[in-house]
Amino acid sequence: MSQRTFSIIKPDAFRKGHAGAILAEIEKAGFRIVAIKKMSISKTQAEGFYYVHKERPFFPSLTTFMSSGPMIAMVLEKGNAIADLRKLMGATNPANAEEGTIRKKFAGSIEENAIHGSDAEDTAKFEIGYFFAGYELA
Ligand code: CMP
Repeated sequence: MSQRTFSIIKPDAFRKGHAGAILAEIEKAGFRIVAIKKMSISKTQAEGFYYVHKERPFFPSLTTFMSSGPMIAMVLEKGNAIADLRKLMGATNPANAEEGTIRKKFAGSIEENAIHGSDAEDTAKFEIGYFFAGYELA
C-alpha cells in the first residue's frame, strides 16, 4: 500500500547546488513526487515546524539555519515511503551515515545535514499539512 512522507532539501544542500542530484536519488529510489516547491521560511515558521525539539540545546541554531535561505519542500509517495526515505537519507549525523546515503554524500554536519524526512505516520501528516494545502496534493 502506498504511503506519503514529507521531505525538505535543506538550505545547505540548496546553497551548494545539490538539489538536482538529491532529487535524482529520490526518483531513482522509486518515490513519486506528489508536490514540490522552493520556498524560504522565517525563523518563526521554522520554530513551528520543529516545535517537538523546542527544549533541545540546538533549537535556536537549527531554526536560524532552516531560515537562512531557500529550501525545497516536497511530498513523496511510494510503498513504505517513511522508512524507505529515512534509509535513503542515512543517519542524522553524516559521520555515522552509511556509504551511498544522501547524507553521506551531501551533508556537512549533524545540523546542516542536507535533507529532512518524516519519522512516523503522525509526524508525516503534521508536516505535510504544515507546508501544503489540500488543493496542492490533489
Ligand atoms: P532532521 O531530521 O530535520 O530533524 C531535526 C534536526 O535537528 C536534524 O535533522 C538536524 O538538522 C538537527 N539536529 C539533530 N540533532 C542535532 C544536534 N545534536 N546538533 C545540532 N543539530 C541537530
